[in-house]
Amino acid sequence: MILETMQSRRSVRRFLPEQVLEETLLELIEAAVTAPSAGNSQPWRFLIVREKAIIESAADLVDKERYRLKGLLRTEFQNEVLSYSVHFSHFRSAPHLVVPLFRVVAGMTAMLQEETPEEERASFQALDHHSALLSVSLAIQNILLRAEELGLGACCMTGPLLARKPLERCLGVPEGWQIAALIPIGLPGESPFNPGRKPVRSFVRWL
Ligand SMILES: Cc1cc2nc3c(=O)[nH]c(=O)nc-3n(C[C@H](O)[C@H](O)[C@H](O)COP(=O)(O)O)c2cc1C
Repeated sequence: MILETMQSRRSVRRFLPEQVLEETLLELIEAAVTAPSAGNSQPWRFLIVREKAIIESAADLVDKERYRLKGLLRTEFQNEVLSYSVHFSHFRSAPHLVVPLFRVVAGMTAMLQEETPEEERASFQALDHHSALLSVSLAIQNILLRAEELGLGACCMTGPLLARKPLERCLGVPEGWQIAALIPIGLPGESPFNPGRKPVRSFVRWL
């Protein structure tokens, strides 16, 4: 059953304008929070955007950054990157946006002696960051799978984080929290083809 859901899930990038019931959106978060997390720290929060004007503003901020980025690139890459990066703001068409946030919880970093060398401290901090981001990533996958079960379209997107800072201000992300991804949600307005996967054995190294 779960394998079927995993296999039929696709990234949906076009949506119908109909709103999704609040209870249904909450079902996605109920699925999200069943995910395992490092030390059961549950280092996540979920913004659920239902206001079309906020979604439009967020997409405008991403488009602004896309054009700013164009100006930073060497001429031969400018048009290619600008056309590829349309994939960063298509969430504009979605009626809803789920924005998973994560917070780095100081694990062993908090227990280090004051005189711990900076390099050593940095590697513990990287581990804390890794654990928090991995925890919220598992929650995100649960959202995508539950959306599929409920007949909703969704797409995990990190491209929009090109505009991370402006998005944080626009969405009112609390101090100490970071946006992990944007997930547009709505009734699917397309049936995407399956881009396929490489043969499973090509990913495996037996030891
Ligand atoms: C971490 C992550 C970031 C992604 N960012 C974007 C994005 O910014 N824009 C987009 O259109 N799709 C994005 N995707 C969706 C991938 O393009 C998609 O998962 C991949 O092409 C496989 O297609 P499928 O999800 O239908 O199996 C992202 C997926 C992941 C896991």
